[in-house]
Amino acid sequence: MFPDQVTLVDVGPRDGLQNEKQPVSAAHKIELVHRLQAAGLREIEVTSFVSPKWVPQMADNAEVMVGLKRKPGVRYSVLVPNMKGLEAALPTRPDEIVVFGAASEAFSQRNINCSIEESIERFRPVAAAAREQGLKVRGAISCAVGCPYQGEVSADEVERVVRLMKDIGVQHVGVADTIGVGTPLKVRAAMERALRHYPLHEVSGHFHDTYGQAVGNIYACLEMGIHHFDTSVAGLGGCPYAKGATGNVATEDVVFLLQGLGIDCGVDLDALVDAGDFISRVLGRKPVSRAANALLAK
Ligand code: HMG
Ligand code: MG
Repeated sequence: MFPDQVTLVDVGPRDGLQNEKQPVSAAHKIELVHRLQAAGLREIEVTSFVSPKWVPQMADNAEVMVGLKRKPGVRYSVLVPNMKGLEAALPTRPDEIVVFGAASEAFSQRNINCSIEESIERFRPVAAAAREQGLKVRGAISCAVGCPYQGEVSADEVERVVRLMKDIGVQHVGVADTIGVGTPLKVRAAMERALRHYPLHEVSGHFHDTYGQAVGNIYACLEMGIHHFDTSVAGLGGCPYAKGATGNVATEDVVFLLQGLGIDCGVDLDALVDAGDFISRVLGRKPVSRAANALLAK
């Protein structure tokens, strides 16, 4: 029933830190990535090449990327909203780029300042140019199960964006619960729509944990055979354009779940907890991970 193996993409350095009020140095971000790869993460979302006026925390994107000591076998991805972002990202040698759209018009406007259709037209040349360079193109679909501005989002709206992404050559779609309001049945309905257009190994889940539902949502996805999830060390995260939304599901909590299910994800939980403890100390707070805090208290 369950997959034998799961791939976790730690999005902590990007999704986790993009919303931090306090400055986090490039050196600390680099150290975080190094600790994540040492813990066994094979995919890491490092930063985003977006406007520094919109998201000041990611202004050091190139410095972080070129400062990495890369570990063979690890894939480093970055968010790119337009050609300007791609041009800035390419010299820093990402393995994968992520274009990010939304299933809700209102969120698209607030997050990337354009309609869904306009966003697709911006992504089209980005996807083509990235693929020409041999990079993989992933697409994130925000607000797939609820929107902070629009409220309900239907599975039809999700499928519309999935289809548009497929049309422009996006190779993998991430179904994202930006504000963590999803519960398993809703998540399953959104995932089913993605799976109509993409194979199982090219669909992933990205769940913020605002209402404590993310681990349950991941379990529901595992039951469907989905085996690719974005998670964030120490539960860091939030989107600057989704007020009140908390971090992504903590990588530590998901690794604990997977270990309990006997599913391999290649991550050493103790080393991961140390990585989460490191960045949490930098931020001056405890990790937002039940598993990490339980293990740190031992
Ligand atoms: P815009 O203002 O419509 O863009 O912003 P523009 O093309 O009119 O350009 C305006 C200015 O931005 C110009 O500079 C451009 O050069 C500059 P100025 O002439 O004023 O000095 N600019 C850029 N600078 C650096 N890098 C770029 C870039 N593009 C333009 N790539 C834009 C449109 C998309 C740029 C803007 O809205 C933006 O940067 N938004 C960022 C939104 C963001 O990062 N959100 C968080 C990530 S998404 C997320 O967290 C959700 C996810 O986790 C899944 C989930 O949970 O839902 C993925
Ligand atoms: Mg997110």
